[in-house]
Amino acid sequence: MLKVERVTKVYGEQEASYLALEDIAIDIADGEFLCLLGPSGCGKTTLLNILAGFESVTRGRVTLDGRDIRGPGQDRVMFFQDAGSALFPWLTVEENVVFGLKLRGTPVRERGAIIDRYLAMVELDTHRGKFPTQLSGGMRQRLQIARALAIEPQILLMDEPFAALDALTRRRMHSFLVDIWQQTQKTIVFVTHDISESILLADRIAIMGVGPGSRFEDVIRVDLPRPRDPGDPAFGEIYRRIERQLALEESKLGDGV
Ligand SMILES: Nc1ncnc2c1ncn2[C@@H]1O[C@H](COP(=O)(O)OP(=O)(O)OP(=O)(O)O)[C@@H](O)[C@H]1O
Ligand SMILES: [Mg+2]
Repeated sequence: MLKVERVTKVYGEQEASYLALEDIAIDIADGEFLCLLGPSGCGKTTLLNILAGFESVTRGRVTLDGRDIRGPGQDRVMFFQDAGSALFPWLTVEENVVFGLKLRGTPVRERGAIIDRYLAMVELDTHRGKFPTQLSGGMRQRLQIARALAIEPQILLMDEPFAALDALTRRRMHSFLVDIWQQTQKTIVFVTHDISESILLADRIAIMGVGPGSRFEDVIRVDLPRPRDPGDPAFGEIYRRIERQLALEESKLGDGV
């Protein structure tokens, strides 16, 4: 279990300081798919960076299976919106995945089977010899997923990973990700601006309020069976509940709060 206990994050010092998060708390179960939603600047990336171990907390605690998170680790992997910046352009598709295995210290004789498994999972097995620049945006994101999975982390941290993709590719990536998540049973924390995306994907959606001192304003469990249908009235009901909450947060921004 990934446990966030009363986490407060202050950036900078004294007059120049900014209270980004205040008393954030949530328990994320093993294998859970959690989406984080909230207005721009509310602290979604900050929270993800704390979970990744890239940022420290000012107060509070973050633990994974009871152990404090004090820095990055191979049990967690961060995904970026722009796969281009995460992949190595001078390495082929296959070599990009090998890189993760080298990091993990996987013996050479075991690497082949792992590479085959994850490249097949993201349907890139016929593109092994290509370089990242020779792939489409969706293929690059799939490669980023394969490379991350090859390290066999417990947790995937994804910061608006599909935001730059066109609508059709994004839809395909959603079904890919849900398939892979169901096959591998990873815990996923996924940041998005897109209400529909969060309802399509998540077990729970945590909505953050505007800062300073952002916290969770609402946490919604989505019990709809997968694959989910945006035309389902129950989908629409959750959509409107989230929309109302976000509108409320945006109005606070407008008041200069
Ligand atoms: N390194 C930093 N130093 C000082 N302030 C920071 C730093 N990083 C973020 N902030 C501030 O903390 C707040 C939260 O930023 P964060 O990037 O986490 O928001 P976000 O919810 O991810 O926004 P977006 O949706 O636009 O990506 C913002 O007000 C931002 O200006
Ligand atoms: Mg962000």
